[in-house]
Amino acid sequence: MTDPQDAIDAEGDARATERDPRIREHNAGDQQEGVPFIGAGPGDPKLLTVAGKELVEAADLVVHAGSLVNSELLEEYCADAETVSSIGKDLEELIPLMRDAYRDGENVVRLHSGDPAIYGAALEQMDALEHEGVPTYFVPGVTAAFAASATLRTQLTLNEVSNHVAFTRPQGKTLDAEEDHIGEFVEMGDVTTCIYLGTHAVADTMDRLLEDGHDPETPVTVVYHASWPDEDIIEGTIETIGEKVEDAGYRASALVLIGEAVTGAGYERSYLYDGWANRGSGEADD
Ligand SMILES: C[S@@+](CC[C@H](N)C(=O)[O-])C[C@H]1O[C@@H](n2cnc3c(N)ncnc32)[C@H](O)[C@@H]1O
Repeated sequence: MTDPQDAIDAEGDARATERDPRIREHNAGDQQEGVPFIGAGPGDPKLLTVAGKELVEAADLVVHAGSLVNSELLEEYCADAETVSSIGKDLEELIPLMRDAYRDGENVVRLHSGDPAIYGAALEQMDALEHEGVPTYFVPGVTAAFAASATLRTQLTLNEVSNHVAFTRPQGKTLDAEEDHIGEFVEMGDVTTCIYLGTHAVADTMDRLLEDGHDPETPVTVVYHASWPDEDIIEGTIETIGEKVEDAGYRASALVLIGEAVTGAGYERSYLYDGWANRGSGEADD
């Protein structure tokens, strides 16, 4: 097998000069040849897409993202398939596992939590597989932020409250302090900041925001295990949320949402449905 790093470099270099023709041959709902990288959704098996469910049901081997993929989903949709958790496995182990099963004629699927395009590290696995001659493709899923906003009965964008959404993560092993932009998003005011991979660091993140002079009353909501049976919602502010999350004992599997939109309060009626009947029907309603 080619060293995964060499495979990633080669695929990335090739992509920089020539677009993959499959981009224009398929849309995101199409079943394609190869190993699908499927978004399993946030947890509730019903939040897996129809396309994802059909592929998982037909699978012989399901490589999944461990505890973030609800075991109920695996039991319900692919009880007869071999299931393997990717937790603790590196590319050197995962790639031959999927490649060899695919070459043996098995239906192989890779199941990521939420949507694979958000902090999924999917592309590197796909590039390594492609380099081994195994075609791959994405099947989108419902990311945790969308499950959290649905749970909170609000929108991430809300007229006159939030015009932008930032999907981000805090500094740590992967990001240096200079690469952590949470303070800048909060400073903008009309952004809903959705922090992934930051449950363990809520108190530190909030302390930094306070040190930088951000309004301590800014609403912050933490949604643990959005859409799971043990889902939990912790509401607070930049000043109070750190202690509340520590008291609850959550260290992983929660989404942190910062901004006024999390309350669903204070918004204005939108232009979209304002006087619609009087303006004719030539405008987009999306
Ligand atoms: C490696 S990232 C994967 C994100 C995933 N690809 C997605 O689109 O939701 C894992 C992080 O996503 C968030 N997360 C995933 N599922 C969640 C859920 N059901 N509820 C709250 N947060 C979740 C947590 O912040 C967790 O640390």
